[in-house]
Amino acid sequence: MHLGQVEAELIYESHQLTKQRRSIRKYIYGLMAFILGGSLIAYRCQKVDRPLVILVSLDGTRPEYLQRGLTPNLNKIGSGGYMSDMIPVFPSITFPNHYSLATGLIVGNVFYDPVLNDTFVYTDPVKNSESKWWNGEPIWITAVKNGLKSAVCFWPGSEAPVKGLYATYWKKFNQSTTIDEKLGIIFNWIDLPPSQRPSIISVYFPDIDHSGHVAGPNSEMVNNTLMEIDNGFGKLMQGLVDRDIQSSTEIVVVSDHGMGSTDPTKVIYMDDLVPEGDYDVIYNGVLVYLYPKDKTKTVEIAEKFKQEAKASGNFRIWLKEEIPYDVHYNSTRVGPILLIPEREWNFVFRSSYNPENPPFPKGS
Ligand SMILES: *[C@@H]1O[C@H](CO)[C@@H](O)[C@H](O)[C@H]1NC(C)=O
Ligand SMILES: *[C@@H]1O[C@H](CO)[C@@H](O)[C@H](O)[C@H]1NC(C)=O
Ligand SMILES: *[C@@H]1O[C@H](CO)[C@@H](O)[C@H](O)[C@H]1NC(C)=O
Ligand SMILES: *[C@@H]1O[C@H](CO)[C@@H](O)[C@H](O)[C@H]1NC(C)=O
Repeated sequence: MHLGQVEAELIYESHQLTKQRRSIRKYIYGLMAFILGGSLIAYRCQKVDRPLVILVSLDGTRPEYLQRGLTPNLNKIGSGGYMSDMIPVFPSITFPNHYSLATGLIVGNVFYDPVLNDTFVYTDPVKNSESKWWNGEPIWITAVKNGLKSAVCFWPGSEAPVKGLYATYWKKFNQSTTIDEKLGIIFNWIDLPPSQRPSIISVYFPDIDHSGHVAGPNSEMVNNTLMEIDNGFGKLMQGLVDRDIQSSTEIVVVSDHGMGSTDPTKVIYMDDLVPEGDYDVIYNGVLVYLYPKDKTKTVEIAEKFKQEAKASGNFRIWLKEEIPYDVHYNSTRVGPILLIPEREWNFVFRSSYNPENPPFPKGS
């Protein structure tokens, strides 16, 4: 989802909440609704002695994607179970939302922690394996603490010990792992002897998000990826049927955020407002933190941006203290100045910007 959009969603609470409840059988019942930001589908079956939960994340899957007629398996799962609203946490980007789905915490894909005097970067495998970034208690740890086994295939936050614990089984993130390979990993876990079999399996698919970033949400590439992922769901369901565990398995499908198009002609030149050397910048997708090098100039720098925001209407800006309470964005890891562009817009420096080769993706 574009951040201007989520900001509207979360701050002004203008989202539409639609719910639909559908009784399929006495043990399969449904509830489905969507918002712009993410989707959640849950398929619940009759409980038996050893129920299995499979939690699947389809990164960057906006609800509208499921209405393109390209995902029959996913839609079938949804219509036989629950579907419900998902309001992403702020900011509506990958790591915060995945870790929030598992715990309720974290603030960014990239952020500086003044207490640790260190910067988290979500693409850095070393940072991902460091316990100090990951607070709270992810659900795979809760399972372990309660004597169950858990397995995680690439959920953000699963590569570091939290409270000294890991999931029982987990994999190091590998961008190249294919959909079929992930299904193989899931079924290997399911096929473990009963005493070793996990009760909850979490699996992360970056594919739809990746295509949305590379080619934009309205691209053929996204359409093709939707079909590939949906085909994977067909195989997943068939695999459960083959093992006769479909009625003791609950499948929960979530997305972390949606996807909006960007426009290389819609850019805000930060260095036109304040010289580039006066602050450090941390990009969180389209959202930007500014860290003035001279802290006493923070208000003055923010004021320059505020005037431009007012004049152009192309972005919003807050000092950290001014960020609306409703978005629950008040950690020490939030930068002193927060900039959020409107839909399709991005922050760049005039000194380095080349519209032929923009530093931001086609979807964001
Ligand atoms: C923070 O770390 C940097 C090196 O990464 C160091 O230069 C700086 O002195 C540290 N600041 C504090 C307050 O410890
Ligand atoms: C990542 O996955 C690909 C595809 O399965 C595989 O060829 C490669 O060896 C893996 N890389 C690592 C570091 O495991
Ligand atoms: C993607 O799929 C939708 C729905 O089938 C279709 O209307 C649209 O034209 C497709 N987009 C592209 C770029 O192929
Ligand atoms: C943010 O947290 C600090 C420290 O807990 C508190 O003093 C401040 O009032 C909070 N601000 C908002 C806007 O909630």
